[in-house]
Amino acid sequence: MKKITIAIDGHSSTGKSTLAKQLAKALNYIYVDTGAMYRAVTLYAIQQNFISETYFYTDKLIENLNDIYLSFKFNDDLGFAEIYLNDEKVEDQIRTIEVSKLVSKIATVSEIRTKLVQQQKKYGIDKGVVMDGRDIGTVVFPDAELKIFMTASPEIRARRRFLEMQQKKMDTPFDEVLKNVVERDKMDSTRTDSPLIIAKDAVVIDNSNLSKEEQFNMILKLANERIN
Ligand code: DC
Repeated sequence: MKKITIAIDGHSSTGKSTLAKQLAKALNYIYVDTGAMYRAVTLYAIQQNFISETYFYTDKLIENLNDIYLSFKFNDDLGFAEIYLNDEKVEDQIRTIEVSKLVSKIATVSEIRTKLVQQQKKYGIDKGVVMDGRDIGTVVFPDAELKIFMTASPEIRARRRFLEMQQKKMDTPFDEVLKNVVERDKMDSTRTDSPLIIAKDAVVIDNSNLSKEEQFNMILKLANERIN
């Protein structure tokens, strides 16, 4: 059967990764969470004291880019690939509010984007991939057969992220989560290199009032139309 490339972009906390994982499973495709890659670079920068809320030694991070090795390993129990930073699993550490606050700054640096995009393109060489992020349909795979752009109101997205964090026992107040969602939207959409924009051939889905099942069935149908 023909294999295609599926690019899922959109605002933060719109459920892109949940949808992408479901889709990859249903189609037996690989799933790549590119946000996790930007987050892992952010974690590295925090660990090396290259970035905090008050400083960002961009040059030092760029000088050390070759010391950052990112990989994914499939976890059979979870049913998706988890991210490793220099061979250490960091899947949970990259989801903290500290990383969320700094990741958009890291994502503005062109040298970092070039390195990560290069690795992302390699994952798609044989097609059969579902990739989610902000620039997948515009920069990483401009020729993807199916492009989805997901959005929802900031309040709904913050509520989702807040509940997710509570489940993981991360005690961040709702207002702080909402502020982070709004600030990241702004930074992601206004950066010079690869800003978050809707690819002209993307299908836009506002899932503020859609159930996960409705959304999944809708997109699986679109994928199957492209495959056949
Ligand atoms: O999807 P996420 O919230 O885990 O992504 C974290 C940040 O990484 C997000 O604020 C923007 C950035 N990002 C990006 O610039 N390009 C991508 N392809 C994926 C994420």
